[in-house]
Amino acid sequence: MKTSELLNIVLVIILIVVLIRYNVNDANGEINEASIVNSTAVMDSLHVKKSVGKRPFLFPMPVGIIGSYDSAGTPNIMAASWIGIVNSKPTSIGVSLRPATKTYDNVMRNQAFTVNIANEKLIEYVDWVGHYSGRDINKFDVLPLTPVKSKLVNAPYVHEFPVVLECRVVRTTNLGKHTHFVGEIMDVKVDTAILKADEIFVDINKLRPVMTGHGSGYFGIGDNLGRGGKVYQRLGITPEVESK
Ligand SMILES: Cc1cc2nc3c(=O)[nH]c(=O)nc-3n(C[C@H](O)[C@H](O)[C@H](O)COP(=O)(O)O)c2cc1C
Repeated sequence: MKTSELLNIVLVIILIVVLIRYNVNDANGEINEASIVNSTAVMDSLHVKKSVGKRPFLFPMPVGIIGSYDSAGTPNIMAASWIGIVNSKPTSIGVSLRPATKTYDNVMRNQAFTVNIANEKLIEYVDWVGHYSGRDINKFDVLPLTPVKSKLVNAPYVHEFPVVLECRVVRTTNLGKHTHFVGEIMDVKVDTAILKADEIFVDINKLRPVMTGHGSGYFGIGDNLGRGGKVYQRLGITPEVESK
């Protein structure tokens, strides 16, 4: 066989492979654009996916400090990242705690807890109270933090933390390793220094909240990326349907 014939065969094979890959419509010769988009995305090396198994990945993760009392009325705090707002009416937050923690016992007993939101200056305390257990040490005895008894729920909040949510437990679900407590938020207290002019909303740039990323440590906030309800308009995609 001549070299030119061999080259022709190779070219034909390549053409067939390309046609199969791009899913050419045999009937009218049109190319299926959706499959080209998908194929392009798959080929885009930035988006080549690797399975990393079942992991609690959610980025970023908040970190709150859970305040509670034990049976003797001793205040305790622990760090918790497995938290999040779960309902708007009644306004509620979910917190997942392991029974190994003293906080779990306290919250079970009193059916109440606080969530204290840290700023960047408090990050060492966040990490500290997430490291030691109130079963072994009274954290407020050794840390320069001040427990304040909530007037609304049977739990302490931390004076030095800029945002505080006072919660009463309305639902408890054993999920396995963690037990999920849903707390109705009875009130939120915010340092006046970080409130916006409307005196309700928090100025995030003044708060300087912290977050965690699994295995990546703690992070502060980055740039403001735009106003909710405006940012989507940058896409310029406006279907004839009502936005909800
Ligand atoms: C950033 C961070 C987040 C944490 N998140 C959780 C959590 O969501 N649930 C949990 O059970 N433990 C969590 N922990 C571990 C507890 O804070 C830790 O076990 C603590 O010592 C428990 O304190 P306590 O026994 O005084 O309640 C976290 C720790 C850190 C540092």
